[in-house]
Amino acid sequence: MARLALIGGTGVYDPHMLGSVRDETVSTPYGVVDISLGTFQGVEVVFMQRHGRGHTIPPHMVNYRGNIWALKELGVTKVVATAAVGSMNDAMKPGHFVLLDQFIDFTKNRPFTFFDGEGGLVVHTDFTEPYCGSMRKVIQEAAAELDLELHPKGCYVCVEGPRFETPAEITAYRRLGGDVVGMTNVPEVVLAREAGLCYAVVATVTNLAAGISSAPISHTEVDEVMEKASENLRSLLKAVFGKLDPESSCSCSGGVRE
Ligand code: HPA
Repeated sequence: MARLALIGGTGVYDPHMLGSVRDETVSTPYGVVDISLGTFQGVEVVFMQRHGRGHTIPPHMVNYRGNIWALKELGVTKVVATAAVGSMNDAMKPGHFVLLDQFIDFTKNRPFTFFDGEGGLVVHTDFTEPYCGSMRKVIQEAAAELDLELHPKGCYVCVEGPRFETPAEITAYRRLGGDVVGMTNVPEVVLAREAGLCYAVVATVTNLAAGISSAPISHTEVDEVMEKASENLRSLLKAVFGKLDPESSCSCSGGVRE
């Protein structure tokens, strides 16, 4: 059975969003992964907490390969992910939503592919359109219907973390074309495409990036802004899950080429 999944990042931990929730574990070649299954808008949804139950896993230690493998194993075809981000774009303010359309990868030390050359298989995956175009359309429609402000495009710079950036780094990322900065979207987006999943991200701006903000950045600030935005985010997610068809096919599933 084809299914939909939600990967909840920082601040999206409310399992009460789902009806008839049951917790399960999935064994993968990369270890055991915790997920919850439940209904959302009458559709069965797999809910995964990216940072683990209780937010105990830092961004650079997340088992990205295990997580995506587990979703594939469960028959998931489409994944909506959320992410907290800092903004480097003056138009993208704390509390705003950004529908990512591009990324730049500055991670340094994470397993980032399912294709390590086993069996002589060398794979280069196309990333011209990193996020699923069909899902992005559905998310934009849902936001418009709810009258929610959603920036329709945004370039995500992924850093290794867990520290926040220096102002000099943010100046550099901004010059390169980055709009928002975060610590988790790579390799998640890469693995999703390698696994042939449709994948889109609604990012929530929680703070102005380092050096743009006049104050130091803290995880508490990130959590507080996320909490304030969470009601709108949940409404948006509900509307999106009401519209997505887990059975509809898309070019994302054919994205991997040898
Ligand atoms: N930098 C990196 N990751 C983040 C930020 C930030 O400013 N805000 C939320 N996640």
